[in-house]
Amino acid sequence: MKIVVIGSGTMGNGIAHSFAQNGYKTTLVDISPTALEKALKTIENNLERMVQKGKIVDAKKETTLQRLTTSSNLKMAVENADLVVEAATENLEVKLSIFKELDEFCSEKTILASNTSSISITKIASATQRPEKVIGMHFMNPVPMMKLVEVIKGYSTSDKTCNSIIELTKHLEKEPILVNDYPGFIANRILMPMINEAISALHEGVAGVNEIDGIMKLGMAHPMGPLQLADFIGLDVCLSILNVLHEGLGNPKYAPCPLLVKMVTAQKLGIKTQEGFYDWSNGTKELIVSQSFTNK
Ligand code: NAI
Repeated sequence: MKIVVIGSGTMGNGIAHSFAQNGYKTTLVDISPTALEKALKTIENNLERMVQKGKIVDAKKETTLQRLTTSSNLKMAVENADLVVEAATENLEVKLSIFKELDEFCSEKTILASNTSSISITKIASATQRPEKVIGMHFMNPVPMMKLVEVIKGYSTSDKTCNSIIELTKHLEKEPILVNDYPGFIANRILMPMINEAISALHEGVAGVNEIDGIMKLGMAHPMGPLQLADFIGLDVCLSILNVLHEGLGNPKYAPCPLLVKMVTAQKLGIKTQEGFYDWSNGTKELIVSQSFTNK
């Protein structure tokens, strides 16, 4: 089987890593040669870390790397592909244009999957003449560690396509869970309102950052609190997904908290800008005094 992954950023390199480690010949495609170089380096480093931790043997690292190739030529890369997983930038125009090209360049048998976290699979499928072969494969970050793949059935996705992707996901040693195509699917429809509510509680001064995250960690056994998780995901990404939920479901309960909007406007986006709900500038999580709880 031949797999092609489009986009070699945070998610693309992890997705390519998982396919290659589980025996699939995989080509990683990106418009940026620098991104491709960086992705290969990341995969190599992640494999090395797995060897050091005793999770895989050294030979497995080598065979995984041998199964990986990179390309900047989409048309050539997708020739004879059985599955293309698109993990390019989260932008509707970018995705529609990629899927239009994929439909043109790929053979009839090729299944086209998207790793989008918020764009409608039905909408993406409308850019192709094969909507029955278009599906969502929503991997979680960091991909090599996380077991879940949320599989999204678009309006016209066939049962045959769903079954093929469910079986394939199991071969990646991951757990596929099938859902229908509605805004935010399931993962983000439930996660994002929780993060938004945590931000609202902070905004209203009910408790501080440490207190909110501490309660969710100790009380609900979450490995990290919702505000720290928002810093990891990126506050801009959280805002954009909440906007998709708000517009797509038409319910005011999904309206993003004004504090989230303000922090994104101020470019306090979390780890990627070194500051969000926490200060990350020293490479570790530090509390920002102004975000701490003041007893009102
Ligand atoms: P990223 O920004 O790290 O990487 C995107 C890559 O796509 C970049 O290397 C860019 O050069 C490339 N790209 C852009 N246009 C392209 C094109 N026309 N052809 C080929 N490559 C192109 O983005 P990230 O975070 O990896 O996200 C990718 C997708 O995964 C998005 O749809 C996002 O919503 C989804 N996702 C992200 C998660 C996360 O935690 N970052 C979690 C789950 C899904």
